[in-house]
Amino acid sequence: MKISIYIATSANGLISNSRNVPDWLSQEYVQGFDFHCQRTKAVIMGKTTYNILAPDYLPLKSEGTTVVLTSDMQAKSANPTVVFTRHSASAIAEMLQAKGHSEAVIIGGAATMSAFIKAGLVTDIYFVMEPVLFGGGLPLLTNIEMEVKLELKEVKKLNGNTVQLHYTIAKSS
Ligand SMILES: NC(=O)c1ccc[n+]([C@@H]2O[C@H](COP(=O)([O-])OP(=O)(O)OC[C@H]3O[C@@H](n4cnc5c(N)ncnc54)[C@H](OP(=O)(O)O)[C@@H]3O)[C@@H](O)[C@H]2O)c1
Repeated sequence: MKISIYIATSANGLISNSRNVPDWLSQEYVQGFDFHCQRTKAVIMGKTTYNILAPDYLPLKSEGTTVVLTSDMQAKSANPTVVFTRHSASAIAEMLQAKGHSEAVIIGGAATMSAFIKAGLVTDIYFVMEPVLFGGGLPLLTNIEMEVKLELKEVKKLNGNTVQLHYTIAKSS
């Protein structure tokens, strides 16, 4: 199964600022976010990211599968695509395949991306690098000791200041 990460970063690699306000994201990032979610119709996120997006900004409304990692088995959503799960990354990939998905996109946050990278399940990463430096904030990966080699597939200038880097995970990783 193809599992991509689509994530915005500062030019120094952080995914949120210390204010935790997403006012640094470009319109082009938002367009790409929607493009990947609608293309795959299978979206994976952590509960913290879900709490930021729900209910109005969840990308899938009625069709597809939105997987939300959480240990809270009482969690409920009015969005019919949402599946709350505390399963492992590999069990989530199996569940999506069983539902007929051959591709999925992880949209954040750091804990969720780290769990899937650690499990060796991520095939592609799209970094949307915004023109800003953060002195503090959240790194892309947390609690992960490994190093992962990447292969650059494409560099795309999205606007005057924003660049998208598409990498695949190197086979030897
Ligand atoms: N730059 C971007 O494109 C972008 C995109 C999305 C988010 N963000 C930022 O990322 C931050 C949130 O990231 P985060 O790392 O704190 O949270 P996250 O990955 O969104 O969610 C983490 C939560 O998911 C649940 N969880 C359950 N099992 C898990 C597992 N195996 N692995 C990981 N999580 C599991 C836990 O919630 P329970 O306590 O419910 O068990 C955990 O607290 C926010 O600041 C947000 O603004 C940035």
